[in-house]
Amino acid sequence: MDQRAQIAGIFDRAASTYDRVGVELFGPVADELVSALAPQAGERALDIGCGRGAMLLRLAAAIGPTGTAAGIDLAPQMVAAAQTDAATAGLTVDVSVGDAQEPDFPAKSFDVVASSLVLFFLPDPAAALAAWRRLLVPGGRLGVSTFGPLPPAWQEVDAVFEPCLPPQLRDARTTGTRGPFGSDAGVEQLLTQAGFQDVRTRTTTVAVRFDDADHWHRWTWSVGQRAMWEHVPAGDRDAVRAAAGERLERCRDGGGRIGFDQQVRHTYGRC
Ligand SMILES: C[S@@+](CC[C@H](N)C(=O)[O-])C[C@H]1O[C@@H](n2cnc3c(N)ncnc32)[C@H](O)[C@@H]1O
Repeated sequence: MDQRAQIAGIFDRAASTYDRVGVELFGPVADELVSALAPQAGERALDIGCGRGAMLLRLAAAIGPTGTAAGIDLAPQMVAAAQTDAATAGLTVDVSVGDAQEPDFPAKSFDVVASSLVLFFLPDPAAALAAWRRLLVPGGRLGVSTFGPLPPAWQEVDAVFEPCLPPQLRDARTTGTRGPFGSDAGVEQLLTQAGFQDVRTRTTTVAVRFDDADHWHRWTWSVGQRAMWEHVPAGDRDAVRAAAGERLERCRDGGGRIGFDQQVRHTYGRC
């Protein structure tokens, strides 16, 4: 199966619970991007890989009915969920299935292009950024979020999946120290080479916390990490879960809650 179909399948199967299991991650990441990009009433913004709309809905609220908040995602179930969530919130969005690698919009059709926790899924991030730049008007703003490093104790939790994973999934959540996503400079260089100016990074930390090991388990099935579970043979999943449970005990914070502090790299540029 082609890589895009695999990714769409994972997120389609996750869509019904994605960002709905009581763990704060995508909202705080979107808050930072939207705050820095400062969309104005009447502007046109595009959220690339919008998922269930954590950022898209915030963009729509800022832009209001006189502008356009558009979103694309590869996974049809994510698109449907984003549409429903926007309607429930009383917001108007223009959301459709589309490929972030080469979004199908006319040149210079947006004031703001944003993408949260998506770029590292793409087969050619540099080419995608060049395509995204073409969608911006002169002076238009780009913001992308990617994952920073994980604490060592949490890397140990994720490592329980490793024996079952194909090579492309071994680097958990595509962070790590290699490649452009391993440093601020690496991501900044991607933007600079795509022709963006005034490229800069702001790093934030999101405290990701779980009530208990069961809560962690539900969350992992609701996000991209679901791909890891799907690679574990059904008969081995209880053992992997038990091994993770032991390691989770080493990841309690001062208040006794299980979790990790996720560094998030927000990289900004101007067209
Ligand atoms: C980690 S989720 C982030 C979703 C959303 N931006 C958020 O912050 O909640 C990654 C999203 O990227 C989408 N995605 C991955 N590859 C894509 C592609 N080539 N084109 C469009 N969307 C893609 C997935 O379907 C998924 O919804």
